[in-house]
Order: sequence, then structure tokens, then C-alpha cells
Amino acid sequence: MGIVLDRVNSCAAYLREKAGFRPRTAVVLGSGLGAFAEKIEQAVSVEYGEIPGFPVSTVPGHHGRFVFGLIGREPVAVMQGRIHFYEGYSMEDVVLPLRVLHALGAERVILTNAAGGMGEGFRPGDLMLLTDHIASFVPSPLLGPNEEELGPRFPDLSEVYSLRLRELVRQTAEELEIPLKQGVYLQTTGPNYETPAEICLYRALGADSVGMSTACEAICARHMGMEVCGISCITNLAAGISKKPLSHREVQETADRVGTQFQALLETVLKNLADC
Ligand code: HPA
Repeated sequence: MGIVLDRVNSCAAYLREKAGFRPRTAVVLGSGLGAFAEKIEQAVSVEYGEIPGFPVSTVPGHHGRFVFGLIGREPVAVMQGRIHFYEGYSMEDVVLPLRVLHALGAERVILTNAAGGMGEGFRPGDLMLLTDHIASFVPSPLLGPNEEELGPRFPDLSEVYSLRLRELVRQTAEELEIPLKQGVYLQTTGPNYETPAEICLYRALGADSVGMSTACEAICARHMGMEVCGISCITNLAAGISKKPLSHREVQETADRVGTQFQALLETVLKNLADC
């Protein structure tokens, strides 16, 4: 067995033993969405720090644990806090949780994040459904020897963000009368925010939002054949678009302000997913 798979299996075995739960949908909660975990019924949580060999997140405002349980009839595994590349972890560590969730049985994943907005007409507080991403500015999480048990050497990424799930999210947002933008997300390494010149470049490349996570996780999930959905909370206008300097505080404040709406969307999407 390959080194990565070995590590994945040992983390998965620990979680199976602790939580005894088989999730169908995995959810990664970005900034401001942490409270979503409170909606989970029959919840069992496991701290990242207690899982042997598991990386631990260090970002203020981010917890670090899995919560397993039910949203409606849907068995979910929620990550309250994710691992970021800018914390100094390798890409292999950053995507390890996705591989572990897949090993536990998750067939699909909803990735959420806080992001800077630069799409036409975007405003802080908007939600954006990811139609695609640009990950050319971060190392691929699939670099290194390929372990065939995880997925193919050269995975196709023509449809990273499942059309089927996008349609479901769009319909759910419409039902709930929650306005939903759509667009392309670009991942940077962070931790610094971008310069106005970089934002000009990213806009010219076709990006609508920018953040420091998600695309690498989506690549890893697609590599394993999982169905992927991504939703950004646009917490601020990207650098240079508004005159205001960027701050983590503004990001957290906006994420908290629209948190309730974002949570309602996520909850109903998961309930609707139970039927498909
Ligand atoms: N840039 C990068 N990451 C972010 C931003 C941003 O403007 N806002 C929230 N996360």
C-alpha cells in the first residue's frame, strides 16, 4: 500500500472506532460558518488534535474538528475548520482530510469559503456558487508518486464542480429567495492578501473571487471521483476594487453577518440531497 493511503486508512480507522459513522456528504465549513455544526442531529465530534498523524489548523476563528451526524436524513461529516497551505503544511497534509472523509464513505463534498470578490456587480455579503476554479498559482495536491487506489495519474478536470449539484444549489437558493451569484474562484497560497495589480491580473484571467483554500481540495476530491460543490461567501471586495484596506476582521464580520443565510442554504441543500 502507498504511503498516503496508509496514512489515510489509519486516520479513517481511528475515526470509525471513535464515531462509528458512515457519512454520505462531507462539508467543509469556511470562516463564519462554524456555527452550522450546531444544526447537526445526533452529533458526534472528534478533535483533529486527537487523531494520530492528523494536521491541526491554527487560524483564529477556525475550530479544528469533525462533526458527524444527520442533517434531516442526510448522513454528513462536517469539518469545522480546515488546514491551509499558508500554515506551512504540505499540500498532502492540506488535502488529507478529504481523503479520510472519502475513505469513511463520503461520495460528495460541499466546500465553503470566505473570498474576496471582483466579479461584475459583486458586493460584500454575496454568496457565489463556484462554476470552476483557477489553481495555477498553487502546487497541485497530486504532485508526487500517484497511488492508483486513490485515483488516476492524470485526472480530468473538465467539470470539477458538478453541474447536478450546482443546479440543486441554484434551485434551493431560489426556493429560499437567497440571491446567488456564480463565478470562477481563484486560489492563492496566501497568507497575505493580494495587491491591486494581482487582482487586475486575476480579473483578466477570468476570476470572480479569490481565496486561500478550496481549489486544491476540489482537485483532490475529483481525483477520487467524488462529486464536488463549492460556495464562496464574498466577505470583501478584492484589493484595489474598493479603497478600503483588507483585514481578517472585516472578513470575519461579513462572514458572521451573512452566516445565518449561508447556513440556511446549506441546511436545505443537504436536506434536498438526501433524496438524490
Ligand atoms: N483575498 C484572499 N482571500 C480572502 C479574501 C481576499 O480578498 N477575502 C477572504 N479571503
